[in-house]
Amino acid sequence: MRYAHVTGWGMAVPERIMTNNDISKMVDTNDEWIRNRTGIRERRIAGPNETTGSLATEAALRALRVANVRPTDVDLIIVATSSPEHLFPATASLVQDQLGAQDCGAFDLLSACTGFITAMDMASQAIRTGSVDTAIVIGAETLSRLVNWKDRSTCILFGDGAGAFVLQGSEEPGGVLSTMLRSDGSGGELLSIPAGGSYIPASRGSVSDGLHYIHMNGREVFRFATRVMARAVEEVVAKADLEMDDIHLVVPHQANTRIIQAAARGLKMPIERFMINLDRYGNTSTASIPLATCEAIEQGRIRPGDHLAFVGFGAGLTWGAATVQWTGPFPSEKKVDPARYRTLARARSFFRRGLRRVEGMVYRNGNAPKKK
Ligand code: ACO
Repeated sequence: MRYAHVTGWGMAVPERIMTNNDISKMVDTNDEWIRNRTGIRERRIAGPNETTGSLATEAALRALRVANVRPTDVDLIIVATSSPEHLFPATASLVQDQLGAQDCGAFDLLSACTGFITAMDMASQAIRTGSVDTAIVIGAETLSRLVNWKDRSTCILFGDGAGAFVLQGSEEPGGVLSTMLRSDGSGGELLSIPAGGSYIPASRGSVSDGLHYIHMNGREVFRFATRVMARAVEEVVAKADLEMDDIHLVVPHQANTRIIQAAARGLKMPIERFMINLDRYGNTSTASIPLATCEAIEQGRIRPGDHLAFVGFGAGLTWGAATVQWTGPFPSEKKVDPARYRTLARARSFFRRGLRRVEGMVYRNGNAPKKK
């Protein structure tokens, strides 16, 4: 039997910090309100050269370095994102190219802030069935580009960043033990970016009506989140044949401290067994769970063998949870440097673009296959 182990982790956040006081200069709000109602003190905001893909690539490289895995050994890249670089091509394909992961499938996955759990579920299933051996799952966002900086009910919440896990297959029991995913599309309008897809294509009117920004009914999303989180954790823990007391740490989606406190109360667990770092990053959507995990590891709160529960919720509405027995890098005598493949990746990508141009010229000059 195959098991999917988390063997690497990495995060990347923009350098620029935006504090609550900075936001209070743009909209009618203040640091005290934001801290009391959300727990957020500051968030990271992408600079002009930072994109969802660049943050995702950086986080993936760091995760590969921890796992001691070459990009060329990766079989699958999943980028969970609510702010992809384009509708298509998938940001995952851009990451695949930039990493130099040449024999690899790649796709984006959209289930909003539940995305990282969904990606873990997909990748671990693929590893368990033997379809792939090594996968990178990434949560990456530049939501600062999709919020209306004049809307105080949303612009205070979100931040940019990326986090990644490397998952590898092994016969050794452990790794991802159980997952659960749910959706209730009847609540779709509670949190959405109405325009820019095929339903309301981009137009002058859609832009002037602000339909390309995040629209949210905060109170309803809050009620939904507090209703589903504790139940999702209980379900996934039972599915793994574990008791709540077996769980060393819960790593929840980082949206609002009050939502996490409600989940802790619902689970009758002390808040100390929950990882919280939203005070410094805000809600980074799909990136929040891997970002919180990376920082929990740095703080010594996660060790090999520990049982963890991850839980997320978001637009859709969607929610999901996973339990993992933490592993860490597989032992290996050889040290690899995944960043070294990046230069090679750039050269290969440049060469392929050139070759495609030459082929195109040859084709236009009459060498196209003749129609019968
Ligand atoms: N500063 C000051 N006052 C504000 C602000 C602000 N930034 N925003 C709202 N207010 C005011 C409102 O206008 C309202 O005033 P009123 O009573 O005079 O009408 C008052 O504060 C209370 O507003 P509520 O919306 O009821 O405030 P609430 O306590 O619910 O907090 C919040 C709002 C923080 C948005 C909360 O509802 C929340 O966190 N909801 C969940 C959001 C969430 O998690 N979204 C992400 C999901 S994940 C994903 O998929 C991206």
